[in-house]
Amino acid sequence: MNIVTCIAPVNIAVIKYWGKRDEKLILPLNDSISTTLCTEQMHAKTTIMASSEFTEDRIWLNGREESFDNPRLKSCLEGMRRLAQEQGGSGEGSNTWHIHVCSRNNFPTAAGLASSAAGYACLAYTLKELYSVKGDITAIARQGSGSACRSLHGGFVRWHKGSAADGTDSVAKQIAPSSHWPELRILILVVTNQKKLTSSTFGMQRSVETSELLKYRVSHCVPDRVEAMVEAIKNKDFETFAEITMKDSNQFHAIGLDTYPPAVYMNDVSHTIARVVHRYNCVKGANKVAYTFDAGPNACLYMLESEVPAVLGLMKHIFPPRPEHVQYVRGLKTETQSISQEVLSSLGVEPQQTGLLMEMILTKLGEGPERLTDPKDHLLTEGGLPK
Ligand code: PMV
Repeated sequence: MNIVTCIAPVNIAVIKYWGKRDEKLILPLNDSISTTLCTEQMHAKTTIMASSEFTEDRIWLNGREESFDNPRLKSCLEGMRRLAQEQGGSGEGSNTWHIHVCSRNNFPTAAGLASSAAGYACLAYTLKELYSVKGDITAIARQGSGSACRSLHGGFVRWHKGSAADGTDSVAKQIAPSSHWPELRILILVVTNQKKLTSSTFGMQRSVETSELLKYRVSHCVPDRVEAMVEAIKNKDFETFAEITMKDSNQFHAIGLDTYPPAVYMNDVSHTIARVVHRYNCVKGANKVAYTFDAGPNACLYMLESEVPAVLGLMKHIFPPRPEHVQYVRGLKTETQSISQEVLSSLGVEPQQTGLLMEMILTKLGEGPERLTDPKDHLLTEGGLPK
């Protein structure tokens, strides 16, 4: 019997991946750039056990058994077994044994919070450890969920679209480690933890088929934006980083509307958050905060550490919690600064009704996946069932 447990981080794109040029290999139309978030606050955790006694492959996701008859899951497993074989097997022929997989996220699933990215990165990384595979596993993680390949590295990551038909050059590479910009903070505003209406797979397929704007984005906008973003990251230039991040999020959601029928991910609360951020930056005379929204209504705000108390104070004022809500902000410990009357009156956005946000999560940049060595961390019992 072999058992391995790993955790993998969430990543949030600042230049979005939207649209595939190859549906089967999951090859993107454009390069994308993301930041990897610290696993202390948000992660996927996966245990995989291989045993000669198991009679079938089984998987439990967030407490529920799911069918293993899922093409993406199977292609990750088969891809990793193939690699293990090519590299000389993994002892005792154990890579032919059936496996039991148990995976849990400690954050809302499928609400546009990159849960599938963390989940598939964790699956691919745990399989890699189980089968002692060496080298780049981008291609395997990518076959689970495209953006998962970016969760295999820490810090700032670029997924190069590549040009080879077989996808061998479509790989994720680190631009800079998390230590490069340690002052960067990420505040996630959880608008809902409901499952999204249009999955990203289906939404992007429809965009590729129907959106003229997507073609323009891919050919005219992303190439320059990617270069400018890499420069902004290298120079720790928050002003430019923030501007490109917000413009790219807006363009991605514009493509959603240009898709026919439209793929709408932001809701009224999301739009209010964007408005508050722009007004705040305007009052401050510089880009102090940036927003980005994935395929869901939740906001991901970037700012420097020095700005966190004021932004938290602002968001709590505009989006008050329900009175019974005890832990409204989770994650890194920080102060909250109340907003001056002067800033509030120039902001011109009134406090909203209570309870529009479920919670806020404060985090920072972090590292890639990690293997946990303490047996207490395993999610499966010795018999291979969820603990
Ligand atoms: O990896 P997928 O298929 O879940 O698509 C992710 C798409 C976005 O999150 C909207 C953008 C991105 O680059 O992460």
